Amino acid sequence: MTDGALAGRRCLITGAASGIGAAIAVAYAREGAIVALADRDEAGLARTRAALPGGGGQHTHHVLDLTDPAEVTATVDAVIESHGGVDVLVNCAGILDETPLVEMDLATWQRMIDVDLTSVFLLCRAVVPHMLAAGGGRVVNVASQLAQKGGAGLTHYCAAKAGVIGFTKALAREVSDRGVLVNAIAPGPISTPLIDGLSEQWRRDKEAELPLGRFGLAEEVAPTAVLLASDPGGNLYTGQTLGPNSGDVMA
Ligand SMILES: NC(=O)c1ccc[n+]([C@@H]2O[C@H](COP(=O)([O-])OP(=O)(O)OC[C@H]3O[C@@H](n4cnc5c(N)ncnc54)[C@H](O)[C@@H]3O)[C@@H](O)[C@H]2O)c1
Repeated sequence: MTDGALAGRRCLITGAASGIGAAIAVAYAREGAIVALADRDEAGLARTRAALPGGGGQHTHHVLDLTDPAEVTATVDAVIESHGGVDVLVNCAGILDETPLVEMDLATWQRMIDVDLTSVFLLCRAVVPHMLAAGGGRVVNVASQLAQKGGAGLTHYCAAKAGVIGFTKALAREVSDRGVLVNAIAPGPISTPLIDGLSEQWRRDKEAELPLGRFGLAEEVAPTAVLLASDPGGNLYTGQTLGPNSGDVMA
């Protein structure tokens, strides 16, 4: 066992096939965590696993669609079976598309809510009872600074991510006194495949309005997730939303 900040912690990370989730998985493993990688993208999961220190070894990966409640339950059962428990849950999977409200059909709205918000509920509902039984744990939910400031063409995304922040605060009030600390991270624009689909105009305008003048990297978000999972660094955070966001929102 290593002596990193997360030595021996069993961490389940969704969205681990790409971008911020993959960077968090690598950062956690470097700190000594045993990670369970979850995503719908099997090839991406294999890439992340191969990038872990030691080439994957004791870690596991799990292919699932987070919008399917039965697949979420089965995955959590498989992770508990493999690792004996979950000390840290990181809900990082997400989707993003730009659709003006007046053009948005119900299916587009519902899919966003299912992937970006309801999956957080499903994972927490499956994992938190195990944490409570074990006497503690950490939940890190990845929201977005767009929940705090809004974004044109993103009513569905902003509503889902604001929901994640409200959910985080409510769950923190419900379980913190039993040792389960629940926090959110609201990143600013981060260069990952998620924002590849947004227009070039949006990117230019967005960079120009950032106090730091640039988008972040996934590796610059991961240390915040390490902090929230660590002891003693994360011990006093619960119900918080931390903002590695290039100064986009100043809370
Ligand atoms: N990149 C940014 O600028 C930015 C900013 C703020 C918040 N975020 C949030 O960070 C999180 C990670 O985003 P990213 O930028 O790394 O994006 P990404 O596209 O690189 O990664 C998202 C991952 O989620 C997975 N995923 C999506 N739907 C899924 C489903 N139904 N079941 C299982 N897995 C699913 C994808 O396969 C992918 O691997 C998201 O929640 C996103 O909203 C990103």
